[in-house]
Amino acid sequence: MLFWRVKPLDKILETAGKKALTRQLGAFQLTMLGIGAVIGTGIFVLTAEAGQKAGPAMMVSFVIAAVVCGLAALAYSELAAMVPVSGSAYTYTYGVLGEALAWVVGWALVLEYAVAAGAVSVGWSGYMNGLLTSVGVDLPRALKTGPIDGGSFNLLAFLIALLVTVLLVVGTSKSAKVNAVLVSIKVAALVIFIAIAVPAAQAPNFEPFLPTGWGSPLGGIGVLGAAASIFFAYVGFDAVSTAAEETKNPNRNIPIGLIGSLAVCTVFYLLVSYGAVGSMGAQPMFDAAGVAIHPGTPAMAEACANSQALVCSREPLAHVMRMLGFANVGNAIGLAAALALPSVILMMMFGQTRIFFTMSRDGLLPEALSRIHPRFHTPHVVTLLTGLFVSLFAALFPVGILADISNSGTLFAFMAVAAGVLILRKREPNRHRPFRTPFAWIVCPAAIAGCLLLFLNLSGYTLSMFFGWAVLGIIIYRLYGYRHSELARDIRDAKAGEIPPPEPPFHEGPQA
Ligand code: ALA
Repeated sequence: MLFWRVKPLDKILETAGKKALTRQLGAFQLTMLGIGAVIGTGIFVLTAEAGQKAGPAMMVSFVIAAVVCGLAALAYSELAAMVPVSGSAYTYTYGVLGEALAWVVGWALVLEYAVAAGAVSVGWSGYMNGLLTSVGVDLPRALKTGPIDGGSFNLLAFLIALLVTVLLVVGTSKSAKVNAVLVSIKVAALVIFIAIAVPAAQAPNFEPFLPTGWGSPLGGIGVLGAAASIFFAYVGFDAVSTAAEETKNPNRNIPIGLIGSLAVCTVFYLLVSYGAVGSMGAQPMFDAAGVAIHPGTPAMAEACANSQALVCSREPLAHVMRMLGFANVGNAIGLAAALALPSVILMMMFGQTRIFFTMSRDGLLPEALSRIHPRFHTPHVVTLLTGLFVSLFAALFPVGILADISNSGTLFAFMAVAAGVLILRKREPNRHRPFRTPFAWIVCPAAIAGCLLLFLNLSGYTLSMFFGWAVLGIIIYRLYGYRHSELARDIRDAKAGEIPPPEPPFHEGPQA
């Protein structure tokens, strides 16, 4: 059952040719897309949440999350370069572990991309509401946040997700150009933050360094709990691989895009978290019993009333600047975040639509989803549908919950990819690998162990949402995808002797 309906890699490459998207992205554009997808709500908004979970030791959490992502990126690059077609982890799993597991991975990627797009939309609305308030335009409280956060409908988060949907329908190339400008703006904002905050660092702000300890499984607090949440800040580099089918010379450009964007972001995050902690301190809020309060709860809101602490801010980077006496710089950073976060939403939704597109082309989702617009040459049906759902998540849920749920799906997909690299090394050792994961037999198991560690340090609530979503996915697969699968049809036709059988899964590909 586990390796049932494995799609031969050669067949995957051939199917991609059927309804091809235009190859128009180069290495630089791809790295920019990667940075565009990665730097966002994680560093601009969730830094406060990380501080609440780990205190100054959140810097260690940033390092742990970066190491896990780096290991996963090395594994991703091998498969992304080898199978340069849309669909990322979903497609690789189809070619290695079979259809049922591929479906589960594709379904988990909905959490990674669509839910993340929702989270970033909510993060954006926080900065945007702050900016509007500063110029005297205050939306009613009911329209500032979703119901769990004390409001009713997060209007700005809803609208930004819809706007990005329209950009994506109009076309990748135009969207990528807009993205490049926005990436420059947010990188400039982080550089200015670092230039002011790092020199202001003072030793006492790092004490006590480890106020909440390392954390425990399902606890969602401590250094590992913070790492599991702040992992969100690195999510998105793999969106590069979902653009493989639209990339020129993907064998060279995909690994450059993946690893390059991750490396740049890691350097920025370490400097930003050092600057934030060092210049203003990041001690958590504790309850009367001396236990750190969970962020995103009513108890936290109460503890934060009238507090200027970093961990209480919804716009922490702007807040640090204001507390250091640079109010105008703080406002400028707020403006940069408000201008630039939409590029992250764009990349996340782009990744999601391409995964749905690929699943529909494989017959696991209705064919109508892979229709391409005659004028814009984009998969408009799936884009509009995804955009509608993302807008609704964004309008109704708080950022921290969405980010953690997104992480659960991403970590699961990363584990599947790392396992896939090893299985394929065994099964098809001679297949041409334009990029080889270095020390794969150490790197891939370490990636799996790291992802599992973070996965288990998400809260029990988050993991129950993850497993509920997986069960729903399995039911949908059994009712629809299982019967409509193109691969199953090919296998049936081959058995009936109508067409030659597809190549066997253990086929050795072209020699390197
Ligand atoms: N990594 C992206 C962010 O931080 C998703 O917003």
